[in-house]
Amino acid sequence: MTRKTLSVLRAEHGVLLSIARLLEAEALRTERGAAPNLDLVSAMVEYLRDYPFKFHHPKEERLLFPALAKHGEGAEAIARLEHEHAEEEALIHTLDVSTSALDGATAANAAFVEAAKRYARFLEGHVHAEERHVFPLAERTLTDDDWAKMDEAFGDHGDPVLKGEDERFRALRLHIEAIGLPPFGL
Ligand SMILES: [Fe+2]
Ligand SMILES: [Fe+2]
Repeated sequence: MTRKTLSVLRAEHGVLLSIARLLEAEALRTERGAAPNLDLVSAMVEYLRDYPFKFHHPKEERLLFPALAKHGEGAEAIARLEHEHAEEEALIHTLDVSTSALDGATAANAAFVEAAKRYARFLEGHVHAEERHVFPLAERTLTDDDWAKMDEAFGDHGDPVLKGEDERFRALRLHIEAIGLPPFGL
């Protein structure tokens, strides 16, 4: 049975993984000497600065992880993932600073390339750990009552890319759709 909690988290992961791929593609283009698409990169950084911390991580940290902890499961993985949420903040800050400094100069571009590649690698590893290990563990461990409480608490996600109503992220959504991820709509 597909749980609403997990489909919401997976849909948000779809946006994040798409951004990781788009950032990596921009990093590779920049590395080859092309000018990065500044509008696209800025929209991605603006999204990353705000939304994962407002809508995604809190659902994992306040609902899913405590539900697993209540059953005495996944302590080590949860500690690592929570540590990574804090690490992610630092990576996004570095990406933000390096994006603002983009000016066509080789050194500035190199800092962006490095920050974008590091963030993309980090995010793929983090999402992989959650989807391959923690979500299946939750599916094996949590009770119908646990899921019902979480599903209710999740309500509608507030992700502006998934909702598609925010003008600032319209072009970003089109780029994400163009690379085929994710299947929007829950
Ligand atoms: Fe996470
Ligand atoms: Fe996540």
